[in-house]
Amino acid sequence: MELVSPLAPGQALDLGAGEGRNSLWLAKSGWTVVAVDASQVALDRIGEFAAADGVTVEAIHSDIIDYLQSARATGRHFDLVVLAYLHPSPEERAALLDAVVASLSTNGHLFIVGHHVSSLGMAGPPDPSRLYSEDDLLRALQPLEVLRLDRRDGASDVSEPGVDVVLWATKGPGPRRG
Ligand SMILES: C[S@@+](CC[C@H](N)C(=O)[O-])C[C@H]1O[C@@H](n2cnc3c(N)ncnc32)[C@H](O)[C@@H]1O
Repeated sequence: MELVSPLAPGQALDLGAGEGRNSLWLAKSGWTVVAVDASQVALDRIGEFAAADGVTVEAIHSDIIDYLQSARATGRHFDLVVLAYLHPSPEERAALLDAVVASLSTNGHLFIVGHHVSSLGMAGPPDPSRLYSEDDLLRALQPLEVLRLDRRDGASDVSEPGVDVVLWATKGPGPRRG
């Protein structure tokens, strides 16, 4: 809320949206939201919550990489991409972050929150390679301008112990040509 509220609402993409707590907040804040998840059960919940709140969320049942590839093929870009508590393997994460960078519009923003590697054994998957470190994120997101990269007490969000990483980055216009 703190990071997104100052932005003018535009097109948002919530990857691995779950039951849509971020998608729903964005839709209620005026964003046009695409929520992608592999779980139809979770997407149905988003539909129910959205109807109750009187907002619309485009809920798409898909693998997130497949969705990003199809968005790229149709030239669809997003002003905001949200990755909240997704912990793919390092190989999947590299492919995911490359595709996410490509999906951002110029001046678009990326928000990532996930369990930090120091949370191993307390929160998140038991495989440390699936947890986030600042260095890994900075390496993977070199095309972006990182505006914020913080650790914070995980208990402040989902009431879990451990530490979260929060990344907030933007995509500049890229190298000038000609
Ligand atoms: C821990 S939940 C987080 C949900 C939501 N982002 C939140 O913070 O409340 C992870 C979600 O990502 C979805 N997910 C994980 N890997 C996925 C993939 N490759 N493609 C689509 N959805 C995926 C799961 O189905 C699940 O709903």
